[in-house]
Amino acid sequence: MRIAMIGAGYVGQVSGACFASFGHLVVCVDTDADKVARLQAGETTIFEPGLAELMAENGKAGRLEFTTDLEAAVRQADVVFIAVGTPARRSDGHADLEYVYEAARRVAGAISGYTVIVTKSTVPVGTGDEVMRIVAEAAPNKEFSVVSNPEFLREGAAIDDFKRPDRVVIGVEDERAKAVMAEVYRALSLNQSPVLFTSRRNSELIKYAGNAFLAMKITFINEIADLSEKLGTDVQEVARGIGMDRRIGPKFLNAGPGYGGSCFPKDTLALTRLAKDANSPVRLIETTIEINDARKGFMAERVIGACGGDVTGKTIGILGLTFKPNTDDMREAPSLAIIDALQGRGAKIQAFDPEGMTAAAEVLNGVDFADDPYGAAAGAAALVIITEWDSFRSLDFARLAEIMERRVLVDLRNI
Ligand code: UGA
Repeated sequence: MRIAMIGAGYVGQVSGACFASFGHLVVCVDTDADKVARLQAGETTIFEPGLAELMAENGKAGRLEFTTDLEAAVRQADVVFIAVGTPARRSDGHADLEYVYEAARRVAGAISGYTVIVTKSTVPVGTGDEVMRIVAEAAPNKEFSVVSNPEFLREGAAIDDFKRPDRVVIGVEDERAKAVMAEVYRALSLNQSPVLFTSRRNSELIKYAGNAFLAMKITFINEIADLSEKLGTDVQEVARGIGMDRRIGPKFLNAGPGYGGSCFPKDTLALTRLAKDANSPVRLIETTIEINDARKGFMAERVIGACGGDVTGKTIGILGLTFKPNTDDMREAPSLAIIDALQGRGAKIQAFDPEGMTAAAEVLNGVDFADDPYGAAAGAAALVIITEWDSFRSLDFARLAEIMERRVLVDLRNI
């Protein structure tokens, strides 16, 4: 199959490289010429384990290309994936669909022959219907179908998630498109990954409901963690105990400083907006968002408490800045709110992150970046683990004790 991937961001690069490794001929399109030039030169523009190798391998085999020429890529394609961003609209938190609709209009102008247009971007229920209307209006004589195929990739484990998914969800309204999508994902039938064919609107809601449920699950265990601290119980044991019930499951029960990233905060908010518009508010999710937002501030208070109630003029060492390990992504990272609150109380911040410091330097002010964990700990009144990078699991405590001003370690991830 010939595939055009519109948008060479996180989802586009990972999905493009994985589809190419399934044997398809993939062209990834982006409007950012600099980014395309870097990708053409064999660089990845994101940190994702295994991605650079996968891109190089498929590039060499002639199955993966990058271009700014949308029209040429779409003209040749059997399937066009729209994988552009859907950020939260600043004014109201609704998903901003401007880029999706703009892509749909340009795709409409370029398709030739029967083409399946697939939204991979996370979009509210009904967006596929609107894409269909836009394409039909712009290209009344062309043959096409519109499909929803949300992604369920976790940053840091995206390639494995793509190749060994719990499930693939495909929202289709006609048999012809269903057959094409079955062919697109045929490689996955080898490892018997379940593929759920459903309606387009169902598929769109599955994506939001899935992320909202996971955000709620994390928030639940975070509240149980707070309660555990008061009761003298161990939240990790409690999580293990409840997770053994298969109806609950053991995953996503790690208590921490609150969820962040490019998806959960944006998607939970968009779901509440979508639900309000449909006159059916999702109060559990509204509350989840409130609790999670407040939690980041509480985490700073914990650190201040561990320092005796005052951090004015004190140095606080921070380990881990990214919203989770194995990524360089700083979007909605809990570290941002925690550092901001500590600085607001007069603390001086020294931080270390294995991959995130370049991205962090763009969004943090007044932070000294260290070369390693010990640089962050030197002279510190407390050392705070915010992100659970593996390398922080084997710190040399004797060395820390020597170089820190006080022996205080606040571990917000229970590692
Ligand atoms: C999430 C979903 O897991 C993916 O399935 C989905 O495709 C993706 O969003 C998306 O919509 O694109 P991601 O944001 O990459 O993936 O990261 P997660 O691993 O889900 O972590 C999100 C946040 O929850 C992180 O801040 C993480 O630290 C936190 N978390 C996660 C916890 O605090 N505890 C846990 O047990 C799990």
